[in-house]
Amino acid sequence: MFFGVTIRLLLGSDSSSFSLGRTQSPGGIKDSLSRGKSGQGGIPSVITLVYFSIITYNVQQEFQKNGFTWFTENLILCSGDRSESNAMTIGWGGIGNYLGHDRPAVTVYVAPGRYTWEFMEKHLRFTIMQFDDPQVWQYMGKHSGRDGDKAAAPGLHVAYTEHGTPYYEEANLVIECETMTAWHQTELDFRNDTPKKWYDGFEAGIHTVYVGEVIGAWKR
Ligand SMILES: Cc1cc2nc3c(=O)[nH]c(=O)nc-3n(C[C@H](O)[C@H](O)[C@H](O)COP(=O)(O)O)c2cc1C
Repeated sequence: MFFGVTIRLLLGSDSSSFSLGRTQSPGGIKDSLSRGKSGQGGIPSVITLVYFSIITYNVQQEFQKNGFTWFTENLILCSGDRSESNAMTIGWGGIGNYLGHDRPAVTVYVAPGRYTWEFMEKHLRFTIMQFDDPQVWQYMGKHSGRDGDKAAAPGLHVAYTEHGTPYYEEANLVIECETMTAWHQTELDFRNDTPKKWYDGFEAGIHTVYVGEVIGAWKR
């Protein structure tokens, strides 16, 4: 179980938040404290308290979604660490097991032209998240972090798992992964006419395939 309390201080043009939580993992109970900072935005001086509780769950036993359609619900992929992070919308992916029946894994496909790709290459862990508000994936899938802190506009506040992996407090489902392997596909890897049919003129480049072991999962 993860019970969290977020105290959000909105002072001047800067927004900071602190999350206190207790996580029960196979290794035992751990307290976590994380601090997030959103972008600048001319926010009026006000202090708000936001309370939430998030439940840790076992993806292999309790994940209820259809793996064939879940990614079409448009998830958010976030990569980075406590010093830097970026996120984008993903519409493709896979869930299952890899290198062991007890090793749940998530596969995502990120084109090298995405700013998030640079974070996936540099950092070991990432999160995938689901949100109720469709404006989140609509915005995060149309704007690039290269042009500024894009999480601020849809009202997202970054927080960190006990491993320091970034996620957004507003997510109703968070799956944390540690990258096991990254496959930098080239045209030669395809056995059919996919490069011609799909990638001709696709400026972002052939997607890199990342397989991440699930190391944590939380839902509201
Ligand atoms: C519904 C939707 C699904 C998307 N799925 C993917 C995907 O699976 N892989 C990918 O590389 N880009 C995907 N994109 C494109 C990126 O989300 C988009 O280019 C984003 O602006 C990249 O942001 P960044 O430059 O900050 O990384 C998707 C976009 C939308 C709107």
